[in-house]
Amino acid sequence: MVILMLIAAIFWVFYTDTIAPHAQKLQIEKDQKLQEQKKTMEENPIKDGIHVATGFAEGEGLEMVIATCTACHSAKLVTQNRATRESWEQMIRWMQKTQNLWDLGEQEEIILDYLAKYYAPENTGRRKLLTDIEWYELEEED
Ligand code: HEC
Repeated sequence: MVILMLIAAIFWVFYTDTIAPHAQKLQIEKDQKLQEQKKTMEENPIKDGIHVATGFAEGEGLEMVIATCTACHSAKLVTQNRATRESWEQMIRWMQKTQNLWDLGEQEEIILDYLAKYYAPENTGRRKLLTDIEWYELEEED
């Protein structure tokens, strides 16, 4: 019985001295991380539909694209390109073959949807399509 109590006491001392503070420290670190993440989101606002820090268009899949497509190079390499879904897929395959890009798994669909939607071939990039054009009537001369 005494021995049992002794073991319990030793364990209790061990617990309060090492495990408990450690768990507390982990919790504090976790809180700090969350705080930092919140801060970066606040410091990285979206303005006029553009994620300011990266220049990516706001839309479904944005966070995944930021996490995946800015790991090796700047976002600009992506945002300055326009391509069809097939071409975006080919670019991903090319990076996988030659640049050590990992298998994107289920995320690939979401990323491709995003790229095909917001970085489609022209009309959306350099200038908006002209609308409300007043055409001249060309009169035929005989
Ligand atoms: C593992 C690293 C890595 C990741 C992650 C990565 N890329 Fe790349 N990518 C590269 C490298 C390396 C190049 C070549 C850079 C250069 O030529 O300076 C490149 C080039 C490019 C180019 C330019 C291709 C060209 O023809 O000029 C585009 C567009 C691109 N990446 C898009 C993406 C997209 C979209 C993602 C997210 C799905 C992505 N990258 C994620 C490594 C990566």
